[in-house]
Amino acid sequence: MSSFESLIRSVPDFPKPGVVFRDITPLLADAGGFARCIDALAEPWQGSQVQAVCGIESRGFIFGAALAQKLHAGFVPLRKPGKLPPPLVEVDYQLEYGIDRLQARSDALKPGERTLIVDDVLATGGTLAAARELVGRLGAELVGASVLIELDALQGRTRWPGGLRLHSLLHY
Ligand code: PRP
Ligand code: ADE
Repeated sequence: MSSFESLIRSVPDFPKPGVVFRDITPLLADAGGFARCIDALAEPWQGSQVQAVCGIESRGFIFGAALAQKLHAGFVPLRKPGKLPPPLVEVDYQLEYGIDRLQARSDALKPGERTLIVDDVLATGGTLAAARELVGRLGAELVGASVLIELDALQGRTRWPGGLRLHSLLHY
């Protein structure tokens, strides 16, 4: 078991029956574990000249902002509805347990800016697919995506283009 995996709590039947929720808050509360986690998230992207990190609200903000610092890149929040003022670009998507929408400022990324998407969990892949579409609409160059946890059984990876890097630190 890796040093990160032991700090993630599995909670059956949350937030609804049948879902095993992977709780990252014990990992965040552990100074050494959190630091090692950010180092490990950054490692595959060193040398990739990432200029912008897009973090997905809300847990993706935590990992994305720390990763942006590590990679000497800017941070761009991809937000849920009602949080950002116009002008915006937005994409609707389906969650493992609901429907949601992601929005970004319409000038949040520069044309061709080398961009990495970051989130905590890849489940069905809807969120990451929406983020990818948003980054494309913003005119940036998508370098890839990084997640802390990939839930293999939900096959979210099948919604990600095969030729584009998608790095996961842990698999459940
Ligand atoms: C969770 C998680 C990912 C998404 C993954 O977000 O943080 O963003 O679900 O699911 P998918 O691969 O099936 O799309 P949630 O909407 O629960 O938001 P939160 O980070 O604010 O808790
Ligand atoms: N986001 C989507 N599915 C999740 C799960 N099972 N645990 C934690 N976050 C999630």
